Amino acid sequence: MSALLSALMTSGTRAALATVAGLLIGLGGAHGETIRPRPCDIYAAAHTPCVAAHSTVRALYDGYAGALYQVKRTSDGATENVGLLADGYANAAAQDKFCASTACIITRIYDQSPRHNDLTIAAGGHYKGPGAGGADLGAAADALPVTAGGHQVYGVSISPGMGYHNVRTTGVAAKGEPEGMYMVSSATHFNSGCCFDYGNAETSSTDTGAGHMDALNVSRDLEWPNCRNEPGPGVHADLENGIFHWDQRSCNPAARISGGPRPFISAWLKNNGQSRFALKWGDAQSGGLNKIYAGGLPRGYAPMRQEGAIILGIGGDNSHGSAGSFFEGAMTAGFPTDGADDAVQSNIVAAGYGAPSGLSGTLAPGSEISLRATTACCTADSVRNQNGTAVIAPITSRSAAADRRDATWIVRRGLADSACVSFESKGSPGDFLRHQNAVLRMQPFDGTALNRSDATFCPEPGKNGKGNSFHAMNDPAKYIRHYYGKVYIAGDGDDKNPWDAKALWSDDASFVVGPPWSP
Ligand code: AHR
Repeated sequence: MSALLSALMTSGTRAALATVAGLLIGLGGAHGETIRPRPCDIYAAAHTPCVAAHSTVRALYDGYAGALYQVKRTSDGATENVGLLADGYANAAAQDKFCASTACIITRIYDQSPRHNDLTIAAGGHYKGPGAGGADLGAAADALPVTAGGHQVYGVSISPGMGYHNVRTTGVAAKGEPEGMYMVSSATHFNSGCCFDYGNAETSSTDTGAGHMDALNVSRDLEWPNCRNEPGPGVHADLENGIFHWDQRSCNPAARISGGPRPFISAWLKNNGQSRFALKWGDAQSGGLNKIYAGGLPRGYAPMRQEGAIILGIGGDNSHGSAGSFFEGAMTAGFPTDGADDAVQSNIVAAGYGAPSGLSGTLAPGSEISLRATTACCTADSVRNQNGTAVIAPITSRSAAADRRDATWIVRRGLADSACVSFESKGSPGDFLRHQNAVLRMQPFDGTALNRSDATFCPEPGKNGKGNSFHAMNDPAKYIRHYYGKVYIAGDGDDKNPWDAKALWSDDASFVVGPPWSP
């Protein structure tokens, strides 16, 4: 045990925690140095031990030596645990080797705490909306490449339909007990769907009423009338039948993540279970924590009635309309001190989260790109999402932010073939470019075989010698082509559709893969 940790365990004082926070910044983790103490060591020293510690990126205890997560290959159903490198970061190379030439999904995120509250793919719930019934989907294991501590690692990228839970936990707060939690997430991958949550929820996956949940939520929450103009996401508490920014049923401006874009954020919730709760957020790459709210529980929520299940990426009743990114998170027994939270935030910053290097503007999974037309008429045009349909339109760095986002695509490993690619809309996370009756449109990934293959395109050198052309994986003679402003899959004069016309086909079917229009 380090001297620092031992000092913390004996004193547990706010001053000692602040000292640790300061020293941690100095240690830095950008090049793989071991960072001690880690979040759950800090909470243990402050007498609020972790009862859940989940991450696909790194160990949340100094000395944790178990597996971080389990992946399953789609080709043969075999599973593999992904463990740690010597410095406590994920051994993502082991995943890459196991999943080479096929696709893998994340099937289990191990709880590093002695409680063993592992998360597995949610089995379904009582939510009755679109996509209801049956189990949720698992996240693609390589959908979210990032760096941490100088290593290439993967986060968990949740699209609508995906989610994880554990409905039989031990040690997690129930029936008004105090607890705290944090997660490292992203303010550039989010939506307004219910509910990108991490935390305490119902054991029956059913909405059992106010106060039966106590979970962090990161979303563009449009629930309250004065939230309609919210441009980006905020950090909230899903207390069931209400995603609260404070004790009111209205938007709290302090809940909004400001100063963006922020690809890595930390989100914080603590609740004494009886009368008060607090929310904070931080940039996971630098700085300290911003207070959102600390005060009384909303009317009807005191005392809390938590049930002690744990959810990730879904609501308490398994509502699964949300999108978001998860890198690490922990839950504590007891109401953590602000000093402990500050020390954990410093440790997160020292962990060195960053974008994957050298990916921007390439077809590597995780890269953010634009697709620029090469036909003489249209070289100022890029492929963009326009209300769910793909079109080409002029975009510049001075275009409105929303237009630039709709003309930016996140490259994903092909949903149906890992040798090909899929394109997720930056402006509409969770929606993928797919063909349907030869027309290219945006649709949420729903996990069906047809959806996967219609959203998979295979790159080749551009047919006119510029950039790339992309054939439809399930219709190899048809290529992504623009025709009179709209985008289709089209053959080279081989069909009866107007957009299969031979004239200009090779130009219209060639696109330069450029840097993203929206950071
Ligand atoms: O409180 C918001 C959501 O409402 C919960 O997550 C879900 O259980 C219910 O539908």
